[in-house]
Amino acid sequence: MPRFDVTVAGELNLDLILYGLPEELPRERELLADRMMLTLGSSSAIVAHNLAALGARVGFISCIGDDPLGQIALERLAASGVDVSEVRKRTGKQTGLTVLLQRDGWRNIITYAGTIFDLTFEDLDLDYLADSRHFHLSSFYLHRGLRNRIVELLQKMKAAGLTISLDTNDDPEDLWRGGLMEALRYVDVFLPNVREAKKITGSEDAEAALASLAKRVPLVVMKIGAEGAVAQRGEERFSSPAVKVNTVDSVGAGDSFDAGFLWQYLRGAELSTCLTAGNLAGAFSTTRSGGTEAFRDREYREKFLAANTTDLKLR
Ligand SMILES: Nc1ncnc2c1ncn2[C@@H]1O[C@H](COP(=O)(O)OP(=O)(O)OP(=O)(O)O)[C@@H](O)[C@H]1O
Ligand SMILES: [Mg+2]
Repeated sequence: MPRFDVTVAGELNLDLILYGLPEELPRERELLADRMMLTLGSSSAIVAHNLAALGARVGFISCIGDDPLGQIALERLAASGVDVSEVRKRTGKQTGLTVLLQRDGWRNIITYAGTIFDLTFEDLDLDYLADSRHFHLSSFYLHRGLRNRIVELLQKMKAAGLTISLDTNDDPEDLWRGGLMEALRYVDVFLPNVREAKKITGSEDAEAALASLAKRVPLVVMKIGAEGAVAQRGEERFSSPAVKVNTVDSVGAGDSFDAGFLWQYLRGAELSTCLTAGNLAGAFSTTRSGGTEAFRDREYREKFLAANTTDLKLR
């Protein structure tokens, strides 16, 4: 029996979310946000945090700076039950930070990468990562220190018998190359959002993008925001509607979807159940600021799951 259900190697940092700013930002003016939230950010850490909150055993490797922001992020992640013993602290370095200017229905996302770019293959204890049933990688294009060995990493995880999931998230350079197609050869579950799926395949059409990716990966799950998600496995298509909730913001909703989906995938559930769980987790995340505020409130989380999972046999 492996030590973990899921291991993750990736980035760990906070999100600073500002609400209530004007659509246009005039120069040299003092602009007032009407609300803010400093919360655990980074796709890798949100997936890990929310998987642990859902009951999975999660191991996490990352590197942070020796600054207060890194420490807060680390403590937040550890509080969910994720094993953080392999998170390395870089002396004299700054942990990354993402600032989100949240508007009505859209947002600006600005990331200072800091130690996100510093994680290298040499930092990874491969025995630790392989002591798991599943390996997840997020934010493919932010791992500059790791990127030219990601294929090797996935190869090793696969050889050790793990299943693998990947969520690229955005490519800040908007090039969508960097060995992604090679990496996809080792991926069992690919979890792009609709925009990413189109960019990766160079297709204007979401359906065509999904079909094209499904030729490369056994299971492609495409997230479509408030419309839920669609999946393709071979020639089979599945779609699953979003869950209606009162949304505060959708920051980290995609990462929460990944966590919900993988939670059921690892229990061997039917694909339709995995999609339902993904949509449920994504929607739940939107009911509070950021990607983990809803999940880290145990009472709130249990109430929500109890109210929404009884007829789905999710638990
Ligand atoms: N307004 C909403 N209402 C209900 N569910 C939502 C809403 N927005 C997103 N979701 C859920 O979250 C999932 C992921 O959303 P989205 O497509 O925005 O992912 P993403 O762009 O990858 O997000 P992220 O910013 O975390 O990377 C959706 O598939 C859906 O299940
Ligand atoms: Mg995403």
